[in-house]
Amino acid sequence: MRISLVTGGAGFIGSHLVEALLARGRKVIVLDDLSTGNIGNLDTVRHHPQLQVVLDSISNEDHLRHWVNQADEIYHLAAVVGVQLVLRDPARTAAINVNPIETILAELARHPRPLFLASTSEVYGKNPRTPLREDDDLLLGPTAKSRWIYACSKALDEYLALAEHAHRGIPVTIGRFFNVVGPRQIGRYGMVVPRFVEQARQGGPVIVHGDGQQIRCFAHVHDVVRGILALMECPAAVGKVFNLGSDSPITIRQLAETVINVVDPRVSIQHIPYEQAYSPGYEDIRCRIPDLTRLRQTIAHDARLGLEDIIRDVIDWQHRMLASQTAVPDAPDAG
Ligand SMILES: NC(=O)c1ccc[n+]([C@@H]2O[C@H](COP(=O)([O-])OP(=O)(O)OC[C@H]3O[C@@H](n4cnc5c(N)ncnc54)[C@H](O)[C@@H]3O)[C@@H](O)[C@H]2O)c1
Repeated sequence: MRISLVTGGAGFIGSHLVEALLARGRKVIVLDDLSTGNIGNLDTVRHHPQLQVVLDSISNEDHLRHWVNQADEIYHLAAVVGVQLVLRDPARTAAINVNPIETILAELARHPRPLFLASTSEVYGKNPRTPLREDDDLLLGPTAKSRWIYACSKALDEYLALAEHAHRGIPVTIGRFFNVVGPRQIGRYGMVVPRFVEQARQGGPVIVHGDGQQIRCFAHVHDVVRGILALMECPAAVGKVFNLGSDSPITIRQLAETVINVVDPRVSIQHIPYEQAYSPGYEDIRCRIPDLTRLRQTIAHDARLGLEDIIRDVIDWQHRMLASQTAVPDAPDAG
């Protein structure tokens, strides 16, 4: 039986990936320190005989090496994620997001096995091109602005993984996720959809940062997980970087209005400046739309679920959490 290691498997995307892998008959090892993940995310599969959950940090090198060597394939999702966490501890972000990939790659160099690396649209930084293609330039801000350390750390992961593919033949596939959303994502670390849904459910106002004209594309986590699995089964995907997400753009203001329409049309919207939400000098990206040509040509992938499906699923999940009296984390005052 094929054994998959999923780092960050108790997280939002990781837990959906774990369910999908188990459904395909894999044995799955989850390695997660629950820093932003939640063991409850694995409730649906908790008693699955082929699931092993290891509560440990990927920064524990010897342990990470051990678990990598138990697996036939690795999905590396564990990372410091979310604007607020990154701004709070840039040094930890760099350490957690970069050092473990070196350990993983060193083990895979000894015994090559497939690796999926979760990267991010953030690596494009301030590149104004629309839509963004995988070969476009990365245009990051100054090192004095800690926000860029997340993008920088993920870009470094990509460089290292691609270099090891080129020099040692490690079969790596890289997915740059663009705003993945759905059930189990929490608003605490600045994720916009669960935050808007929670604020609307609580009677508002829904807090929009800046003028709300920032453009994003939101993809349902189920569609993204399908994409990850298809990429990992496709020999033509090896050694390549793929944008992974939706290419249907919407402004953040329109997103707030859509959430309000679904949850409660009486709720109001309030705009607050970025400086108030984050810190003085915070830089946001105006527009981020992926070019999905490479993805579509490689795995014939298309979204099956739209924004309203996403919002409904997030609402259902938040209601279920409330009903089971597992506290949904507080909506943040920024994010
Ligand atoms: N959600 C998105 O829209 C999005 C966009 C771009 C990239 N990504 C990437 O996707 C991956 C998963 O993100 P997510 O949205 O599911 O966030 P998440 O916070 O739910 O998942 C990250 C998981 O990694 C775990 N983790 C963090 N540090 C760890 C450590 N030191 N040791 C072990 N486990 C650790 C956390 O506990 C959590 O379960 C991340 O690599 C992230 O950078 C996500």
